[in-house]
Amino acid sequence: AAQAVMKKAVQLAPDSWMPGGEPDPLSRQKHGLVGAPISRIDGPLKVQGAARFAAEMPMDGLVYAALAYSTIAKGRIVHLETGAAEAAPGVVLVMTHRNAPRMKPMPLFMTAEKAAGGSSLPIMQDAEIHWNGQPVALVLAESQEEADHAVSLIEARYETAPAMTSFAAAKAKGTTPGLFMGQPLGTKVGDAAGALAAAPHKVDAVYTTPRHNHNPIELHAATVHWQGDRLRIHDATQAVGHTAWSVAQVFGLDEAQVHVTSPYVGGGFGSKTLWPHQVLAAAAARLAGRPVRIVLSREGVYRIVGGRTVTEQRVALGADGEGRLQAVIHTGTVAMTAHNALPEPFILATRGAYAARTFELDVEVATLDMVANTFMRAPGEAVGTFALECAMDELAVELGMDPIELRIRNEPDKDPLEGTPFSSRNIVAAYRAGAERFGWNERHPSPGARREGEWLVGMGCATATYPYYRMPGGAARIRLGRDGRAHVAVAAHEMGMGTATVQTQIAAERLGLPLDHVSFAYGDSTLPGTILAGGSQQTAAIGAAVIAAHRKLVEELLTLAGNDTPLAGLKADEVGGLDGGLAKLDEPERRESYASILMRAGREDLVVEAEGSQPLETQHWSMHSYGAMFAEVKVNAVTGEVRVSRFLGSFDCGRILNAKTAASQFRGGIIMGLGLALMEETQFDERTGRIMNPSLAEYHVPVHLDVPAIDVIWTDIPDPHTPMGAHGVGEIGITGVGAAVANAVFNATGKRIRDLPITLDKLL
Ligand code: MOS
Repeated sequence: AAQAVMKKAVQLAPDSWMPGGEPDPLSRQKHGLVGAPISRIDGPLKVQGAARFAAEMPMDGLVYAALAYSTIAKGRIVHLETGAAEAAPGVVLVMTHRNAPRMKPMPLFMTAEKAAGGSSLPIMQDAEIHWNGQPVALVLAESQEEADHAVSLIEARYETAPAMTSFAAAKAKGTTPGLFMGQPLGTKVGDAAGALAAAPHKVDAVYTTPRHNHNPIELHAATVHWQGDRLRIHDATQAVGHTAWSVAQVFGLDEAQVHVTSPYVGGGFGSKTLWPHQVLAAAAARLAGRPVRIVLSREGVYRIVGGRTVTEQRVALGADGEGRLQAVIHTGTVAMTAHNALPEPFILATRGAYAARTFELDVEVATLDMVANTFMRAPGEAVGTFALECAMDELAVELGMDPIELRIRNEPDKDPLEGTPFSSRNIVAAYRAGAERFGWNERHPSPGARREGEWLVGMGCATATYPYYRMPGGAARIRLGRDGRAHVAVAAHEMGMGTATVQTQIAAERLGLPLDHVSFAYGDSTLPGTILAGGSQQTAAIGAAVIAAHRKLVEELLTLAGNDTPLAGLKADEVGGLDGGLAKLDEPERRESYASILMRAGREDLVVEAEGSQPLETQHWSMHSYGAMFAEVKVNAVTGEVRVSRFLGSFDCGRILNAKTAASQFRGGIIMGLGLALMEETQFDERTGRIMNPSLAEYHVPVHLDVPAIDVIWTDIPDPHTPMGAHGVGEIGITGVGAAVANAVFNATGKRIRDLPITLDKLL
């Protein structure tokens, strides 16, 4: 039977999954390749150490960079002593604002289609200091050790100016409304304050989350060199195309003069975009006339690459006697700099979560002098779901209702704010399946009821949600050879999430070719398209482009095939890929192989390129990834230590394209969520604006002993309105985890911790 299914030809009309069309058949049928748990094709290279990362590119005449960072938050440099560094062994160049080439600021992310900069401040152009940790000098030397030594000899003296480094003081000074992608985040529907006041059941509390820093295992790095006026950047990035364009703006070049590649990325999570280090390395390479390698130290990542900002969120929920929400108020303040564009949008998840009569949502911004905060896995949702989903748990307690039942009672039948239909939402099914598998019915509803020796045991749940996005700019090239092999090329990214593997599966399925006859090229700004590995949208963006390119390929193949073929007279939407050729969809015996078509036409190969359609689907439907998160924790009654003993994520993310890589994405997100719940916290000295724990010794992330076996399941229900029926799986995993853990801690102890991370001091 499986064989029979696989023998079905696969094709689709262009954008048939778009408004008004049929779903992509790849999403509907069972296939041999789509969904299969295929191991990552880049796996062997990585475990053998053969995959070459940005800081490993060999180059003749390479020099190594080290950075000196400011130790004040605001003011100006009055003296920079560089003589000792210049005289130190191996030193090739010391670059400061005095000799750096003139450069424009980096185009700030989201302010232009291909902008990739994390901050719009000038880079080493003047003596002004804008944050504690700003690069003030760069040393190039013949070895990394010599560069590190020389940079330690640089002495800076400053004239300080008053800096705003206290969140409370910045709030007191006055906040401004948060804007996300140019739109105000504030929304009001009805009279939420009035509805809350009148509601018989209510909760109203403030939840706080700390700063988080990015800690991908691969440090931010680049190897750069100039060939005349052409700049080559071997980068570690989530955005090759955006980076090439943005760096071109900085140096006044044409986009085509900057070539960025990034074949492997050792973790990105939103941080591997354009920060000062790539720009400084390129500037220094130009001055020195030599190729430059820059690898930020772990401290360097904390100093110049932003992280997630601090949030203070009020959630007030009012419900009627049956638990139906009458009011949802989710407002609060985040810290941000004046030079970036991400006011941690913690209300995004709340916009689509529950049916309610009234809403009041708002994000206010307090402006601080600090390193520009930025995207970090599920920006907004990761911390927003902590507040919202803890509040739902508190409301369930107030109502004496099971928290899952409360959520199901408030399940909306259309988008609560936009009124648009959901493209695909099976969150209730995810809850039911998760509850059964986790053994939710063994949970004691009263806190503190279960004890094993010193350990109090509790269970909690929370909803996970992350929007479906698809950004414009996707394009793909397909080369089909007479040898029956296909090569697909897209300027996309592999950060270890399985992009190359999944896209090879998809292309092979669509073309009707075996997996090993298809290759996938990516991570190079000269390839088609400008696709961001961010917003959990890369798979959809590539998918739409590959669908368009494949459609064009089929049309051209039919033209080449002519009339002397079993395919004569057929149109592109009547045929599909099958066993190395094209076949009529409902009559597969009418078939001709690709090799035969190309041979008869006297062609070695056929190359097509096409752009993905505009993302109209998001205007017609409310589209999100969903999950139901379940945590079991043990809290030590003597020490307050929290151990997560079991965790289950039950997901509804459309069609799962590769069961193995998707499960890893879910688990990775959940592990990061456990860090958010229990340990991650940037210690920011509010007197000086200095980050005090810039190392993995003092900034704690979960290690193996902190992570229990994580069970993940999914509905695998295709969304008919996305390419391949899939939703993003990259960020959903971190959402809801903080609340699931906090709710379990409450169930174990009766203590409601509304301030992350849940460290043991808060439980004693
Ligand atoms: Mo993600 S924070 O969109 O890389």
